[in-house]
Amino acid sequence: MRVKRDGIFTSDPLALDVIATNPIASVVSNPRLPDNPIIACNQAFVDLTRYGEEEILGRNCRFLAGSGTEPWLTDAIRKGVQQRKSVLVEILNYKKDGTPFRNAVVVAPIFDERNELVYFHGSQVELEEGAEAPMLTRRVRAAEKVKTLSKRQHEVLTMVAGGLRNKQIAYELGLSEKTIKMHRGLAMEKLGARSSADMIRLAVEAGI
Ligand SMILES: Cc1cc2nc3c(=O)[nH]c(=O)nc-3n(C[C@H](O)[C@H](O)[C@H](O)COP(=O)(O)O)c2cc1C
Repeated sequence: MRVKRDGIFTSDPLALDVIATNPIASVVSNPRLPDNPIIACNQAFVDLTRYGEEEILGRNCRFLAGSGTEPWLTDAIRKGVQQRKSVLVEILNYKKDGTPFRNAVVVAPIFDERNELVYFHGSQVELEEGAEAPMLTRRVRAAEKVKTLSKRQHEVLTMVAGGLRNKQIAYELGLSEKTIKMHRGLAMEKLGARSSADMIRLAVEAGI
């Protein structure tokens, strides 16, 4: 059954956590299903791409690519997915009506407590064509925000960006889960991130 909660479309309630109330266009895919289909998307993704929710769920995200899409950038995403590493590329994509747009997309793996790959998170930002170095501005802003974090918060952010959950981060750093939650919450506040997905995107933009 498909549910719509907080402006998110999915039939997988667990995926809700990842993109909950994310103002940035976001999708979650399930790499354990054939062809890594999208299992959740938010309203911002529907608005950006102009596809209906029923046209998005169950499909691989490659439908955004088209004749002008740079094959080497698609290769970079494919490689990131294969190697389970986060990637950020600025790729030419197309909306449903054929309108091309420059998409600064971040694709990042998400692992469960047993270190098994469970999801990929994708977030898409339309770059304004003609604006001066929009991605550079985003990167600089992200790096500036990251600089305000304490050493511990920075460590936690690095692990969140690597797709780790609180439990694993606690284990890796030899701290309690409660302490990790606290650091994570403070880092989120300082970064002005509204969800884990936002936080991951910022970290990738900052070059972490
Ligand atoms: C979560 C996720 C989000 C993705 N978002 C985009 C996207 O916004 N634009 C795009 O061109 N490709 C995106 N991709 C990449 C395609 O889904 C696909 O992996 C890529 O086209 C390479 O595979 P192919 O050679 O089989 O098409 C995304 C992939 C994943 C896993």
